[in-house]
Amino acid sequence: MSKNIVVLPGDGIGTEIVEQAVRVLDCVNEQHGLGISTQTFAFGGASYDQCGEPLTDETLKACQAADAILLGSIGGPQYDAAPRDKRPERGLLRLRSELGLFSNLRPAMLYPELADASSLKPELVAGLDLMILRELTGGIYFGGPRGIETRDGQKVGFNTMVYGENEIRRIAVSGFDIAMQRNKRLCSVDKANVLEVSELWREVVIDVSKDYPAVELTHMYVDNAAMQLVRAPKQFDVIVTSNLFGDILSDAAAMLTGSIGMLPSASLDIHGKGMYEPVHGSAPDIAGTGKANPLATILSVSMMLRYTLKEKKPADQIEQAVAQVISDGVRCADIAGNETAVSTIQMGDAVMTALHNS
Ligand code: IPM
Ligand code: MG
Repeated sequence: MSKNIVVLPGDGIGTEIVEQAVRVLDCVNEQHGLGISTQTFAFGGASYDQCGEPLTDETLKACQAADAILLGSIGGPQYDAAPRDKRPERGLLRLRSELGLFSNLRPAMLYPELADASSLKPELVAGLDLMILRELTGGIYFGGPRGIETRDGQKVGFNTMVYGENEIRRIAVSGFDIAMQRNKRLCSVDKANVLEVSELWREVVIDVSKDYPAVELTHMYVDNAAMQLVRAPKQFDVIVTSNLFGDILSDAAAMLTGSIGMLPSASLDIHGKGMYEPVHGSAPDIAGTGKANPLATILSVSMMLRYTLKEKKPADQIEQAVAQVISDGVRCADIAGNETAVSTIQMGDAVMTALHNS
């Protein structure tokens, strides 16, 4: 069976890290005869530079037809002055929306060897393994009305945080399903003490919980959740939350693990088709220097094999190879302690060697 993967390297360090991730994908493809072929398209700022649009119809069509998408990262300061609807971020939001990728899985797990790289005390993060499930196609990111206009002689900016029952229900179902595969604890994060949209969120999540008696459901206000994440993060198993809250909390959770350069993510539609990308951004400050850590993107390939292509064996193999290079002390600059930092390509080489030896 042939599988078609669309590769969108994007901007900044995106090209460098995706190159290493594609090497890894090609390697397991060959080893396991997965029948995967890849097709690469410009996206984000790179696409805007080439044809004036962050997401062209051609790229969108290819993504719609693909079995899965591998994305690097998008954006950069050179696009700040571009018209709002042409900015790289708009391309990403449109892609998420057009493909219906409502379910965004952002795991945060700590490799024991990297406990010292965390900004928290090692004992607070040792063994950390949590999953943030972020709603990705609704809420304030997409709600209307939105805009900047003049009212009573002064400019006002406004957005709308809106969720329909069905949108809440389907992300809640994803949350409970994931909790069932893990430690059966789900924490729904909202701001129900202030926002009506959160009041409804909580009501629907409680309703869905009736179908999952084995899962322990708790609720937490988002401000408290931010505090708890840096106070005692191991209390969490799965967090389910809205688009904006998930954006913020997932960056905080990522940093607990020492480096945002280590974390993959999956954005899935209702059928489990998905787009896979590192949690980190395009890091324009180090783009082109060969310093970027490709492991988050390599681990995104593993998530793609696991969640969309249902190829557990090569997915496990990639995760083991990454764990191996970490335990061997191979470090890019973002996670290097006393070790001499290796380059993006050298990290890719190390993972390839581990794969070939596995
Ligand atoms: C993320 C990013 C995006 C978001 C940006 C680049 C639009 O921060 O994926 O977390 O806000 O969703
Ligand atoms: Mg973000």
